[in-house]
Amino acid sequence: MATSNPRSAPGLTAFDGVVIGAVAPAAILAATLWVGGQAASVLTGRGWASGSLTAGIEAVTAYRGDPGAAWESPMPGPTTYWPITAGSIALLVGAASVVGILLHAGTRTRRKVERMAARPGMATPREIGRTVGRKALLANATELRPTLGRRARESDLGWRWGRARGVDVYTSVRDSVVLLGPSGAGKGVYVVNSRVLDAPGAVVVTSTRPDVFAITMTARARVGPVGVIAADGSVDGLPQVVAWSPIIGCRDGRVAAARAQVLAAGSSSGVEDSSFWQGWSEKVIKALLHAAAWGDASIDELWRWSQSAAAAKAALAILQRQEASPPVADARVEPGWADTLAQVVDGDEKFRGNVWAGVGKALAGLDLADVRARFDPAHGENFDVPAFLAAKGTLYLLAEADDTASRLLQCLVADITRVAKQLADRSPKARFDPPLTLVLDEIANWAPLPALPTYVSAYGGSGIVTIAVIQSRAQMARTWGVDAARAIWDSSTITGILGGVTDAENLRDFAAIAGERDETNWTASTGRSAGIFGGKGDSGRSYSEQTRTRAVLDTGEIRGLPEGTMLMFYKGLNPMLVRMTAYYRRPDRRQLDEDRSAVEQAIGAGRTESAACDTHAVIVVR
Ligand SMILES: Nc1ncnc2c1ncn2[C@@H]1O[C@H](COP(=O)(O)OP(=O)(O)OP(=O)(O)O)[C@@H](O)[C@H]1O
Ligand SMILES: [Mg+2]
Repeated sequence: MATSNPRSAPGLTAFDGVVIGAVAPAAILAATLWVGGQAASVLTGRGWASGSLTAGIEAVTAYRGDPGAAWESPMPGPTTYWPITAGSIALLVGAASVVGILLHAGTRTRRKVERMAARPGMATPREIGRTVGRKALLANATELRPTLGRRARESDLGWRWGRARGVDVYTSVRDSVVLLGPSGAGKGVYVVNSRVLDAPGAVVVTSTRPDVFAITMTARARVGPVGVIAADGSVDGLPQVVAWSPIIGCRDGRVAAARAQVLAAGSSSGVEDSSFWQGWSEKVIKALLHAAAWGDASIDELWRWSQSAAAAKAALAILQRQEASPPVADARVEPGWADTLAQVVDGDEKFRGNVWAGVGKALAGLDLADVRARFDPAHGENFDVPAFLAAKGTLYLLAEADDTASRLLQCLVADITRVAKQLADRSPKARFDPPLTLVLDEIANWAPLPALPTYVSAYGGSGIVTIAVIQSRAQMARTWGVDAARAIWDSSTITGILGGVTDAENLRDFAAIAGERDETNWTASTGRSAGIFGGKGDSGRSYSEQTRTRAVLDTGEIRGLPEGTMLMFYKGLNPMLVRMTAYYRRPDRRQLDEDRSAVEQAIGAGRTESAACDTHAVIVVR
């Protein structure tokens, strides 16, 4: 039989409270006065004072006129002693108040977030653990990393976002992400940098600034080769700079077609029948790239062809000549492409003009000779996509917001994903392993990457995981068009929202996605109640229950999410509030800081050599 043995828990009696309440302030007062006396001695050049711990308080109570008498070592006179003591106490009290206020504010914010996270309608710790917890991730090891199987650790299988309701939140290497937050919300600090640093395989990073590059480059150089292309030349001189040619590889019609699709995307936007004109521009660009590859034309020639249909007659001649020639090493020009190009080049003036307007816009990134040079590698120095993927390389693609040259960089992103997908299709479980991570920071400030909806919705299962980082839904709609923007949003496995969003419509959408909860309130009313036998009875209390439906999180709460807290939607799971860790609080922060300063100095100096990265310089075909 079980027996119970009740015991009172050790606690504080009222007497204990009185003693502590009286002794603690006295001890603090004595300590501050002691510190004040020490300050008076040190600041007047007498070094540390000797005396009992109560010397400071004795000076006040017994030796106000000659405070030195309370101490065993020489002290300054009262006119110096007391002002210094008072100043030191003021400093101590000020510092303690600041710390107290900061701690209180931090705790209050944390408590507020915890209360919101624990509401009905939010994911419970059990649900979080079962769906996005560590064990759930490890249970999928063989599926996620077929080459590692059971040996895989959590860092091989996914990424730790932070903690929600006391549970570590991990998502896998196949979960695509759309991360939304206004400028300065902490997308870089809390997600992008760490995601790049922790990626288990090759990484492609897009950005409009060299911030992520400076922080992560050196650490990534310890994993594999590092390359950077800055369309604006902002990192020219660094040994990591690579060049990539949009022409090499275009003898294969499929490559030319894939690149033309990226280049032509949105090139006719704002024009009536834009998809018709864009379709024709794409056909022409495809043919020009194909001709350039077969005719061994330079990037300058390709650009000249893009300037007018008359200039493009040279490209047409190349295609026609090749079509009439025997195949070279079993390869030949795509039959019929010359005819398609001829239709435009020899077509009527209005048709030709409209098509060429799109062609010119699509290749406008090449207008500057400087930029063309960055896409014109020396012989044998072209960026090698399969080598980059195999060696777990990291490639940074930098372009200013709205820089037309970003279309060329997007061609390279499309090339890398195409090659990775082909390799995946031939691999166990049709998965590219270790996975390729696309960290598409500031992606909406670039030209529209037309395949982004496909990457987000379908490529995760092939080992190509996309993290699309954007500032607002309006920015997405402007870049991809309303339908494609919605497709990107709807098909990502994880949607993360940071605080500071001010667009009311967006906030209402997020609140609607978070769902609703029933809130029950009890109201008590008092009154005279009738007794059982009808007489006047005692005053009675009655309760009424009111249930009303409220948003799980309202718009103001989503807007006011504190820095470092992300509202996360994961598949069908109820929303979570995830507390993340800034990259500058990682255990390797000191090293990262040093690396960052070294790279920033190198960028500033336009240095041609960097000690940071001599083992894996550039990834090129030699
Ligand atoms: N090393 C650091 N230490 C402390 N604060 C930092 C550090 N680096 C950045 N911050 C601050 O963190 C905040 C978030 O910066 P972050 O670069 O993550 O913004 P973002 O969301 O990526 O914005 P954008 O869309 O403009 O790129 C900024 O206020 C920035 O000043
Ligand atoms: Mg950023």
